[in-house]
Amino acid sequence: MTVEFKLTEPLLERLGQARHVMVLTGAGMSAESGIPTFRDAQTGLWAKFKPEELATPEAFELNPARVWQWYEERRQQVARAQPHAGHRALVKMQRLVPSLSLITQNVDGLHQLAGSQDVCELHGNIHRSKCSVTHRPISREWLADSPHGPPHSPYVRHGLARPDVVWFGEVLPQEAVDTAMAAAARCTFCFSIGTTSLVHPAASLPLIALEHGSALVEINPSETPLSLQADQCFRGTASEVLTVIVSQLRDLKTNR
Ligand code: APR
Repeated sequence: MTVEFKLTEPLLERLGQARHVMVLTGAGMSAESGIPTFRDAQTGLWAKFKPEELATPEAFELNPARVWQWYEERRQQVARAQPHAGHRALVKMQRLVPSLSLITQNVDGLHQLAGSQDVCELHGNIHRSKCSVTHRPISREWLADSPHGPPHSPYVRHGLARPDVVWFGEVLPQEAVDTAMAAAARCTFCFSIGTTSLVHPAASLPLIALEHGSALVEINPSETPLSLQADQCFRGTASEVLTVIVSQLRDLKTNR
């Protein structure tokens, strides 16, 4: 076990006694599955592409084919990706604690593929599509023959199919926000993993948890605006840190 990635004894004790744990994940959680993050220098998607040309409703209105094609490439990349040891460690953690809310900003579905239950997706899911006008879901079968441009919506004549993800300037799905806010207010132990903690409302969740007296642990190779407020920061990757923490927790629970 890498000592450097161990929870301190008091924090491990708090995790062991926590009635409700909240885990917030961001793009860094999927990095070891080969999916690029957004804001990492050099490798991040927003270092290579302009978000305002690809991830806004205005961009889609201006050039739906380009936006569709870009998401199609990302969809294919995500479809080839597999969960890593960190995703699997979170599945184990969910079994070791009385209640765990997994809130993700990721749209790749890797937590669900690993076996996590009741994942709350704040920013949608890239595997799904919806109507650009009514926002009603559109089935995969409807999209089958449209790899290069978005097909028309089955619902309204002037609508197009678009990815069911939250773009800049858009409102998050209310049900997901409500679930996440409730988890943040209720948890007594919070993990923030692989997120720059810059995009709200997701970035507010650990702060809400703190206001309600929760412990906070950050897992991120780089410092973030949240780091100073965390009880412990791990400067390692999601898989290397989570495997150690979950094995600590398992040992604690089996020795009780
Ligand atoms: N393990 C843990 N963290 C990592 C790893 C890793 N292997 N690799 C990189 N990171 C960290 C980076 O240091 C960075 O802080 O992951 C973070 C990724 O940050 P962002 O790319 O900004 O991703 P995120 O915070 O999830 O972005 C939020 O912004 O563009 C939108 O909708 C998009 O959901 C996204 C939102």
